Amino acid sequence: MGFFTKDIKTMTDLFMHGLQDLFYAENQIAKSLPDMIEKATNPQLRAGFEKHLKETEGQISRLEQVFELLDAEAKGEKCPAIDGILKEGSELMGEIADEDVMNVGLVAAAQAVEHYEMTRYGALIAWASELGRGDCVPLLKASLAEEKATDQKLTALAERRVNPEGEKKSGNGKKPAKRAASTARRTRKAQARPAKAKRNGGKKARRRA
Ligand SMILES: [Fe+2]
Ligand SMILES: [Fe+2]
Repeated sequence: MGFFTKDIKTMTDLFMHGLQDLFYAENQIAKSLPDMIEKATNPQLRAGFEKHLKETEGQISRLEQVFELLDAEAKGEKCPAIDGILKEGSELMGEIADEDVMNVGLVAAAQAVEHYEMTRYGALIAWASELGRGDCVPLLKASLAEEKATDQKLTALAERRVNPEGEKKSGNGKKPAKRAASTARRTRKAQARPAKAKRNGGKKARRRA
């Protein structure tokens, strides 16, 4: 960006800048994921990262398709936000020795990345629509859906699987107590059902009589 001139003058410029920014971000994420895969010892987390690496490669190619639709060269613009998020994540990983704690830290670091991506895709979809570039929208929406799904899976892992505190809770915590109560309710209902059927059967029998 020039000192005396501002490079982003129009919404089209802003859209292009956003695409270049995200193109850079996705490429940096693709470079970081192998390291996260290596550090993840939880099998589901590891498999999730492996899947998302493949998705990220697909997202890079979708962005290339968007550039193509716009007759523009696919190139990245250095994005300090994603550099900072990834740097903070890798620094944190360097501070953790315990495997369980590492898995929890990896989930949180990955969610910071997903949330960043979701805001960027959301903005680009809105701007593409505003600029009458509906042809770009499905490509951007497909990637946004993958980021959201990844974020949801990470939340589920954080709550139920990866978090060692959560695992402990499953032995004597609040949630299992709730589950036990609902199982007891289901059992009572199931026990009540034959009696109801019997009553209905009785009515039918009376009607038939
Ligand atoms: Fe992505
Ligand atoms: Fe992502």
